[in-house]
Amino acid sequence: PTIVVLASGTGSNLQALIDASRERDFPGEIIAVGSNRPKAFALERAAQAHIKTFVVDHTQHGSREEFDAHLMAELRRLDPDLIVLAGFMRILTEDFVRAFRGKLLNVHPSLLPAYTGLNTHQRVLDAGDSLHGVSIHFVTEELDGGPVIAQAEVPVLADDTPDTLAERVQQQEHLLYPIVVRWFCEGRIRLGAQDVLFDGAAL
Ligand code: GRF
Repeated sequence: PTIVVLASGTGSNLQALIDASRERDFPGEIIAVGSNRPKAFALERAAQAHIKTFVVDHTQHGSREEFDAHLMAELRRLDPDLIVLAGFMRILTEDFVRAFRGKLLNVHPSLLPAYTGLNTHQRVLDAGDSLHGVSIHFVTEELDGGPVIAQAEVPVLADDTPDTLAERVQQQEHLLYPIVVRWFCEGRIRLGAQDVLFDGAAL
């Protein structure tokens, strides 16, 4: 299966996927990396790994619809089996999400359904939670609301700051995302009518 990764930032999750994809038995191939930010470090990581890159700069597009139409055109050309959002910080339109239903994965830094949206680490600290983590989910029309495939938990420590907590969560992201992408490429997980099917059975 072919994979396109979309990233807006430093791309540490992208790096974890690139590293995993270099393992001899990895079942998928990252054919391109796209970003909405021309200066995203993720693009440099891709170039280093000799992976083709493309940019659809959201500041050059008047509306979300126009941006998504351009992104969709790029993706249609590449025609990947899987689109992996790895710190891709744009909300996608319903049309976009519907067009690629069942082929879109996202990583979200919380134990969904808790803490959808931004600034999750700060919000977890503010709430005094003792448990936090990461979720990998299929993307559906509902923001951060698509069916969860896998989660990893981390403890919240007494002296944590948003940064120390983020770092602990990200270590788990880097372990979990490649595992889930591998499952997808092996045909083990798919999006059912409203839930995730793992080896054909509901999770
Ligand atoms: C990750 O923490 C992800 O959960 C969040 O954005 C961050 C992306 O980091 N949504 P990176 O670009 O993969 O390093």
